[in-house]
Amino acid sequence: MVWHGFTQMATYADNAPLVIDRAEGRELIDTEGRRYLDAISSLWVNTLGHHVPELDAALAAQAAKVAHSTMLGNGNTVVVELAEALAQVVPVDGAHFLFAADGAVAVEQALKVAYQYWVNLDVKGRASFLALGDAYHGDTIGSLSLGDGGVFSAVFEPLCFPVIRTPGYADPGWADKACAAIAAHAAELAAVVIEPLVQGAAGMLCATPDDVQRVGEACRDAGTLLVCDEVATGFGRTGTLFASEQCALRPDLLCLGKGITGGYLAMSATVASDEVHRAFLGADLGPRTLYHGHSYGGNALAAAVALEHLRLMESRGVLANVRTRAEQLSALLAERVAPSPVVRQVRQRGLMVGVELAPPEQGLRWGRRVCAEAVARGVLLRPLGDVVVLMPPLPVSDDEILRIVDALEGALEVVAGGKDAPRSS
Ligand SMILES: Cc1ncc(COP(=O)(O)O)c(C=O)c1O
Repeated sequence: MVWHGFTQMATYADNAPLVIDRAEGRELIDTEGRRYLDAISSLWVNTLGHHVPELDAALAAQAAKVAHSTMLGNGNTVVVELAEALAQVVPVDGAHFLFAADGAVAVEQALKVAYQYWVNLDVKGRASFLALGDAYHGDTIGSLSLGDGGVFSAVFEPLCFPVIRTPGYADPGWADKACAAIAAHAAELAAVVIEPLVQGAAGMLCATPDDVQRVGEACRDAGTLLVCDEVATGFGRTGTLFASEQCALRPDLLCLGKGITGGYLAMSATVASDEVHRAFLGADLGPRTLYHGHSYGGNALAAAVALEHLRLMESRGVLANVRTRAEQLSALLAERVAPSPVVRQVRQRGLMVGVELAPPEQGLRWGRRVCAEAVARGVLLRPLGDVVVLMPPLPVSDDEILRIVDALEGALEVVAGGKDAPRSS
């Protein structure tokens, strides 16, 4: 039996789970043959839709060569090619890539690299991290420590290490407070870790590029490292390939995941600047070495798909579509969703959207109920608490944007009127 993450298995069957059998374009098809527009990009990983012929072909061609060979000490052609191609587009100076399989691991690696960077430079005392309120960086213990807790992770708090925490994007003064704390703690900070522009898992809380840029400058002034976690925002979601670009940031460490393979295979990467990487050079097997690695880091199948995916992002003009469709979505939400008395706020950067609901009391599970109604209308949505997330694949069409808004509007009306089917959980 499968044990589903973030899922109460005792009530699993009562929540009418979809079992997906196959996909076509932007639609998922379940075992009953019903079609759903994948309006959450399969939990934010899918970029170009499903079953993309070019990605399928890249995968098959690589499988005919070699599926995987270790990147610990040795190399693999396609992984080297991917690193070279990514180095041209990531906002990191002299980029070096440490590949892994999950976003949380990209963050773990960044933490260890940032910590050891100062050890290698023989700078004492820089062993703390500053992270923001409402932050989410993954579910491993290091990334959970950076995250701002919440009901789901409270049980693990005794396992986590302390961080310096300043308010997140929900506080209009967050950047001033972060800059002040960075200056005050300069001597003890190994790194500052942020999700540039959008705190996704917090419910799509948004910052302005100027505020994010100021925090980057504060890091430079304090001489601490800046880690940009673009696991969610990377690969086009906000309208540029990376959100850091809009904030004029050149982070010392960049975390990538999710969309890196277009949502095909598990791959992530910690990208280090040349300056950071140089601090790890030294004697063979010496103490400056980064003693960290994962069995499947730099998987060749994933690398082949990621490489082709990068080419398609460019050749298909995907980012232009994100910007056009984001404007269309923004206008429709302003007209048909934001005025609803059951909606508290609509937040959006590019094709990352959070529609925060305003339930009259706690415990009504409106987020889940609205999404269930949207699913019944053939649009797959999944909430974060009472925030309904919309994150369609990047080539989404104007008709599909309309389909999403139609389904959401209908779902909101039904749930607000208490007319939806009762659910046990
Ligand atoms: C900003 C950010 N960092 C890290 C992660 C963790 O990535 P993964 O689920 O691949 O471990 C997520 C996942 O949503 C994320 O949004």
